[in-house]
Amino acid sequence: MKNIFIVCGSTRKNSTNHRYIELVKSLLGKGFGYVELDSLMNIPHFNPDDDDENVADAVKDFRNNLQEANGIIISTPEYAMGIPGSLKNAIDWTVSSSSFSKKPVLLITASSQGFKAHQALIDVLTVIEADTDGTRILIPFAKTKIDNENNITDKTTQEELAKAVQIFQSKL
Ligand SMILES: Cc1cc2nc3c(=O)[nH]c(=O)nc-3n(C[C@H](O)[C@H](O)[C@H](O)COP(=O)(O)O)c2cc1C
Repeated sequence: MKNIFIVCGSTRKNSTNHRYIELVKSLLGKGFGYVELDSLMNIPHFNPDDDDENVADAVKDFRNNLQEANGIIISTPEYAMGIPGSLKNAIDWTVSSSSFSKKPVLLITASSQGFKAHQALIDVLTVIEADTDGTRILIPFAKTKIDNENNITDKTTQEELAKAVQIFQSKL
């Protein structure tokens, strides 16, 4: 059984990104154990002064889940032309722990536009040595491309996502 840890960059109840995550899970099929971060909102504000042996339990759990995972799925919107603050905040806690190092990451930026957040995340994940090679996909107009049953209604997106998922799976 391969372990996959999931981080949704949106904390919204009816998140489109969450629908894309559910779709990816169905594309991956059986043989995977999933742990999803309950909410980015439980991770405290990053402060290097607090990054010691007494670090908050939510941060410890986050790092452990990353370290135990064979692969990680991040699906996120863009906010104000950048990475949502809560997602960037969580990632900042992993710089010292190297929790992303060498881990395959399926990076989905599903947003209205999303280019800047997507590029910024590629830069961030690259510097912390995550492997996003062939497994990053930008989905602009994301809300219009997935229906209520989590089916993608846009052929190009469907093909691109299927390819990225296939490459991700091959690395696990
Ligand atoms: C405060 C705020 C700022 C946003 N800024 C951007 C932006 O700069 N670029 C963009 O593509 N979408 C932006 N959006 C739109 C969201 O990214 C878009 O609605 C996305 O699909 C939301 O994802 P979710 O359904 O998973 O929450 C913004 C939304 C909010 C609430």
